[in-house]
Amino acid sequence: MKKVGFVGWRGMVGSVLMDRMKEENDFKLIHPVFFTTSQIGEPGPDIGSGVQPLIDANSVEYLGDMDLVVSCQGSDYTKQMHSLLRNSGWNGYWIDAASFLRKSERSIIVLDPINSDQIEKGIDTGIKDYVGGNCTVSLMLMAIGGLFKENLIQWVCSMTYQAASGAGAASMQELLTQMKQIGEISNKSQTKSSSNILEIDKDINKFINSDKISKENFGYSLAGNVLPYIDSQLKNGQSREEWKNQFETNKILGITNDPIPLDGICVRVGSMRCHSQALTIKLKKPIPIGDLETIIEKSNKWVRVVQNSKEASLNELTPSAVSGKLNIPVGRLRIMNMGDDFVSAFTSGDQLLWGAAEPLRRVLKILIKNSS
Ligand code: HSE
Repeated sequence: MKKVGFVGWRGMVGSVLMDRMKEENDFKLIHPVFFTTSQIGEPGPDIGSGVQPLIDANSVEYLGDMDLVVSCQGSDYTKQMHSLLRNSGWNGYWIDAASFLRKSERSIIVLDPINSDQIEKGIDTGIKDYVGGNCTVSLMLMAIGGLFKENLIQWVCSMTYQAASGAGAASMQELLTQMKQIGEISNKSQTKSSSNILEIDKDINKFINSDKISKENFGYSLAGNVLPYIDSQLKNGQSREEWKNQFETNKILGITNDPIPLDGICVRVGSMRCHSQALTIKLKKPIPIGDLETIIEKSNKWVRVVQNSKEASLNELTPSAVSGKLNIPVGRLRIMNMGDDFVSAFTSGDQLLWGAAEPLRRVLKILIKNSS
């Protein structure tokens, strides 16, 4: 059995990965070894085959003994350890949740329901680094990948509604704290003066804009608010999160010349772990909605077209409807006023499942199968 080293398995993405691997009995296929950057020698997780002490994740020697390494530790760790390990002559497969290796010409961004051809080509040509994509990109491709595959898309504008989980576990906690604090201000405000909602709102807005609200992570209140900027600023006016859309989508699809333009504004909203996106799709030619729905549904077994009705949209197309699930609903599909070749769509998906852990879990199995 292949020795697979796990780093960062205790973090949020790592924990979701561990849970999914247990659910799917994946640990039976491998010899797992658990690493740590801070608790060397402490007992590792119990995955049903006895507990082993944790091993130093900064040791090239121990990592070098693995056939595969799966890192959910973050880009700083990858930056530090990946090149050290490669320079030591290690030739195993490196699977990573972090973004650092995505730009490398010697890496594949993995999303096998969409790009199993690219993954197979990578394996055949000796590529050893397999990296999960940005969550909004992976979720958008799981939703409308069929339209890309059929070469129907001229461009896509994606306006995102990204959950707190994309900013990390501490940010999810911070959102909850902010909601609680706002609830307390609201209670005080109601008992203090009147039940006039405009007065209550004034008190809450004052609080949201003050330094009294907890905002160590976001820097602002996400509760009762939206934050129209995610990640760092680039010279062209895009945020780094927005830049990833076009680059990663084209890389995942294996398009090297004449990239499909994708752009939009990435926004953080107060949902917990599901990213939503409103898409404007410019088709290469007009296509009836019914045909588009069929192509979308046939693309993979997780995507579902939601009828464009108020009831179905509100029941099936929200973060709360998809949280913790692998389903990818796509709805609000209709031809837009701009012309017969413009289509709108709305999709929501679990940022920690298809947005992060699931593509890694699946590529691990593909690589194991191909290397035995
Ligand atoms: N960058 C994403 C976000 C999460 O901030 O929501 C990881 O892909």
